[in-house]
Amino acid sequence: MEKTLDQDRVKEFLERVMVDSGAALAGLCTSIGARLGLYEAMAGAGPLTSGQLAARTGLDERYVREWLASQVAGQYVHYEPGTDTYVFPDEHAAVLADPDSPAYSAGAFAMLQPLYATEDALVDAYRTGGGVGWEEHGPALYEGVARFFLPGYAAFLVQEWLPAMDGVVEGLERGMSVADVGCGFGHSTLLMARAYPDSRFHGFDFHGPSVESARRAAQEQGLADRATFEVAGAGDFPGGDYGLITFFDCLHDLGDPGAAFRRAARTLAADGACLVVEPNAAAAPQDNINPLGRAFTATSATLCLPGALAQKGPYALGNHAGEDALRRIAYEAGLRTWKLAAEGPANRVYDVRR
Ligand SMILES: C[S@@+](CC[C@H](N)C(=O)[O-])C[C@H]1O[C@@H](n2cnc3c(N)ncnc32)[C@H](O)[C@@H]1O
Repeated sequence: MEKTLDQDRVKEFLERVMVDSGAALAGLCTSIGARLGLYEAMAGAGPLTSGQLAARTGLDERYVREWLASQVAGQYVHYEPGTDTYVFPDEHAAVLADPDSPAYSAGAFAMLQPLYATEDALVDAYRTGGGVGWEEHGPALYEGVARFFLPGYAAFLVQEWLPAMDGVVEGLERGMSVADVGCGFGHSTLLMARAYPDSRFHGFDFHGPSVESARRAAQEQGLADRATFEVAGAGDFPGGDYGLITFFDCLHDLGDPGAAFRRAARTLAADGACLVVEPNAAAAPQDNINPLGRAFTATSATLCLPGALAQKGPYALGNHAGEDALRRIAYEAGLRTWKLAAEGPANRVYDVRR
């Protein structure tokens, strides 16, 4: 018997997919706008014609007009037909034009080009079960990831997450040694280093170019006296009687998070703590049906899981493994005190100790 489709539900789903395909294509326009400074040029400028925006940015007017049309269609920019002018509202500027705003989200779009470029490698990996290593991506990915995470760290790390860890702020104020494992571009390391001048910060990451970028940032920000960066794996970073060991959005990327926790257990000072920041995504698929859950699970399927698989185990957690799985790995590694210290829409922050 032929199955009859509910045509209303087909139409409803088609509309949702059309919205998504439009958004996926428009993401390229958003990335171009961010890279070329179009959003910054419109921020706070009031109504502008396409010619005025082209003059402000030094870009080709015909392209700018076409880009503006895409922005109006997506309701990022308002169009005033009477004056043929375009307005970028201040509230939208906080999201796409101001890197210091906690709502700044342009970093996500910087990840698209390098991530989409791995599609062929991903298709192969899905067939073979092999990995796509962190180091196999284009350079824009590392910068994009760092830019994506920075606004959240800048808003919460010093203000909320460190104070939520028992006794840690007191230790940082007195002066102690801190390891930031899987530090990437070192944004988290440098935020802590700026806030606590009497402590010493050691960023470790196995990705050489990221470590070099972190070193440059430390120099530029005048923090090289207290923040150093070295290439090191999460399972064998140099010891140092650390009062604090941090893992920012990287534990699930490791093929062997157990080895990283074992190394932490061995190198922590007697009263030391690990601060583990992970995406606030649920282990149960049905609990990720929301915009952030969607972004996290999609990133996991295309970046985090393939990266961990490339490290050849024993784990490939994905970024929504859930608290229970992480706590079990920590326990087996000798870190048996586990507490949820803080939680926000995008992050869960754990205080983990021996
Ligand atoms: C999603 S990024 C997060 C980077 C940084 N912590 C941040 O929050 O911006 C994951 C980081 O883990 C690092 N990483 C992955 N596997 C690693 C390993 N086995 N040892 C050390 N670092 C590793 C990557 O190079 C990358 O910088």
